[in-house]
Amino acid sequence: MATVLILLVLMNLDLLMKMGLCSETRDQVLLIIPDTQEHVDILKNISTQYETALWQPASPHHIQEETQVHLYVPANSSESVKTLLQTHTITHEVLLANANELIEMQMRNDSTDPRSSSTFYQKYHRLEDIYEWINRTTHDNPSTVKAILIGSSFEKQPLLALKLSMNDRPDKKAMWMDCGIHAREWISPAFCLSFVQHSLSFYKQNQEITHILDNMDIYVLPVMNPDGYKHTWTENRMWRKNRSHTKNTNCIGVDLNRNFDANWCMEGASRDPCSETYCGRFPESEPESKAVADFLRLHKDSIHLYISIHSYSQMLLFPYSYTLEEAPNHSDLLEMAKGAADNIKRYHRNHYVYGAGAKTIYLAPGGSDDWAYNLGIKYSFTFELQDRGRYGFLLPPSHIHSACSEALTAVKTVALMVINKA
Ligand code: ARG
Ligand code: ZN
Repeated sequence: MATVLILLVLMNLDLLMKMGLCSETRDQVLLIIPDTQEHVDILKNISTQYETALWQPASPHHIQEETQVHLYVPANSSESVKTLLQTHTITHEVLLANANELIEMQMRNDSTDPRSSSTFYQKYHRLEDIYEWINRTTHDNPSTVKAILIGSSFEKQPLLALKLSMNDRPDKKAMWMDCGIHAREWISPAFCLSFVQHSLSFYKQNQEITHILDNMDIYVLPVMNPDGYKHTWTENRMWRKNRSHTKNTNCIGVDLNRNFDANWCMEGASRDPCSETYCGRFPESEPESKAVADFLRLHKDSIHLYISIHSYSQMLLFPYSYTLEEAPNHSDLLEMAKGAADNIKRYHRNHYVYGAGAKTIYLAPGGSDDWAYNLGIKYSFTFELQDRGRYGFLLPPSHIHSACSEALTAVKTVALMVINKA
């Protein structure tokens, strides 16, 4: 017995695992690069067959040769997935060796730990805490901030947008920003909160935000997909879609960023309710997308700028995403995105890629940015915040500050440019 034990100790963990004596107990994120079409096909299969979560690209359909795939692999599928990759000599490395620990860290951070020195805006927050924050913010700023109920989610959670308005100037422009369309992109709601905080604290202090708020009303929807967001805190950290039920299937959720009426459900979205990019039964079938679309339709004459905040990959995207064709004011949009990326480089030393969505990432119809653009909001953007894949959706709380600072720079840059356009 003793000799067996010593033998086991002497052997390394890797070897033990290969012998099946010890199995992986941690969730991991793998970076995989398919070299051949055969590899591509195997990967498409893995991501549907095993209990995994595809981080990048959004759908297996977009997996291509020589392009990075980021795959979240729960401990229980780890061995089968790795064996499969090894058998077919598919290049891969471990991006995150212990995802469980990161997830725990992000959630633990929410508790009111008196020893923690980080502020409210350097933590992630549960849905209830965000609603409480909305309450507090309107209560503390009665003359400048109003909460507007624009609708409710599938599970009947309120969809609350904040309106920041510093004066009653006639014919004032407005901008709209939504966060948290996709549930697992936690940095997105965190940014909406920090953006509101910055606006209220630095009005009359910081010249740029003052100029913006003097000339624009700002609507902010901190959590567009509250049901999904809640689900990522309680059940499944990797959830992307909303939580609506579809008849004749056990699969839950619609991809809200495929549910808008912009070349709805054509190439780049899926009709399969089990897919991560399921487009829903018809455009605006979901209460969340319908509420936002209704609000934008009602205010389209004043709203000149639409921004949707996502993560991850550090990209500043603009229409179109549903077609490879260029938008009519492509050169304006390009100039604005370039201005934002240049400022991020200059002030934060970080690199953001920019361009039209379809050419920069992939064809993706039914997106909110393209729909808002076609409604007549000619300056329309999707910002993909930090990082570029090191932590992906599991960006640690210690990175919230830098992610939000550079996103703020991007938002300010485009808002100032819109104000200066006739
Ligand atoms: N990662 C986002 C998504 O897949 C990209 C959004 C870009 N815009 C768009 N309309 N698809 O939804
Ligand atoms: Zn997203």
